[in-house]
Amino acid sequence: MTIKTIITEPNKILRQKSLPVREIGREEQRLMDDMIETMYDAKGIGLAAIQIGIPKRIIVMDISKNDEKNNPMYFVNPIIKNKNSETSTYEEGCLSVPNFFAEVDRPKKCDVDYLDYNGKKKILKAEGLLATCIQHEMDHLEGVLFIDYLSKLKKTMIVKKLSKKKDRPDRIIV
Ligand code: NI
Repeated sequence: MTIKTIITEPNKILRQKSLPVREIGREEQRLMDDMIETMYDAKGIGLAAIQIGIPKRIIVMDISKNDEKNNPMYFVNPIIKNKNSETSTYEEGCLSVPNFFAEVDRPKKCDVDYLDYNGKKKILKAEGLLATCIQHEMDHLEGVLFIDYLSKLKKTMIVKKLSKKKDRPDRIIV
């Protein structure tokens, strides 16, 4: 397993729409292994393949608590169904938008059709944190980031700050 570099905003790659996976073979499973390793290393609870530069409809997640056993989840070609009209609000962050957080409302419950790590068809009935997390990750597959839900002003400010950080040269102590 390899820890990959996570792409951060602003970067056009993150705005790309990811393509369906035709077949789950060794290559796709290796990608999922790298993704989960990268996500754990970055201390995130979800990661989409596009965040490491691969435009495939693959998501990994683990919403287990720190004191619980790891519970890695793999979603290939996920499709969201039956979004609830009730919403829940979480303060969201994103590994591709480091150090910024904002409250986002999303449907409280949803069902997800997907293929698992072994290519088996599955249905997930998601609620609460799980529902919010999968919807956040599904947005990545469409090139959408959580900051897109914020006011234009707030979003512009965040992107500006992130680009400034990127332009800064590396700090060295010699
Ligand atoms: Ni994200």
